[in-house]
Amino acid sequence: MVAPDGLLIRNPRPDDGAAWRRLWAGYVAFYDADVPDAVTAGTWARLLDPNSGMIGRLAEFNGAVVGFTVSVIHPGSWTLQPVCYLEDLFVDPQARGHGIGRALIDDLVALARDRGWSRLYWHTKTSNKTARRLYDRYVEADDFVRYRMFLA
Ligand SMILES: CC(C)(COP(=O)(O)OP(=O)(O)OC[C@H]1O[C@@H](n2cnc3c(N)ncnc32)[C@H](O)[C@@H]1OP(=O)(O)O)[C@@H](O)C(=O)NCCC(=O)NCCS
Repeated sequence: MVAPDGLLIRNPRPDDGAAWRRLWAGYVAFYDADVPDAVTAGTWARLLDPNSGMIGRLAEFNGAVVGFTVSVIHPGSWTLQPVCYLEDLFVDPQARGHGIGRALIDDLVALARDRGWSRLYWHTKTSNKTARRLYDRYVEADDFVRYRMFLA
């Protein structure tokens, strides 16, 4: 699938706040989760801060913000170059199926090549068949499982 004409993947700007929050709310609802307003505000602030270690990218289609990625850049013990963890990916339900999700991942691959990140990785639920169909086009999933403790 080729990304549609009129699609732009770009950095967020302060005036994108309302559009990003609308998509973020959809993403949080997709996970049936609840994110405190202070965390949403803090995440948005970090996406605008070039020194935060977090990177946000927006998909703008015909002037509307219709998708985003949030990634964390961190050092790793198995490589000297930075590693990119793609933490969040979301496309507006009304804009799905047109190659926007793929374009958002392609954008990160291009950034990785430009900036010398050595790895790009992400997780999803085993049951998320829609996302996995997209992900399987890039690389085969490994057999690691995730352990998480919530401490604060
Ligand atoms: C996963 C998600 C980002 C995909 O976005 P999208 O813009 O619809 O994806 P694309 O249009 O780029 O589709 C990419 C591929 O996935 C497949 N795909 C996407 N949506 C599909 C659907 N509903 N049914 C079947 N296949 C689908 C397509 O076949 C396409 O592959 P192709 O180009 O080889 O045909 C989007 O569905 C979404 O936001 N889902 C909810 C949040 C989520 O699951 N995020 C990821 C969590 S880790």
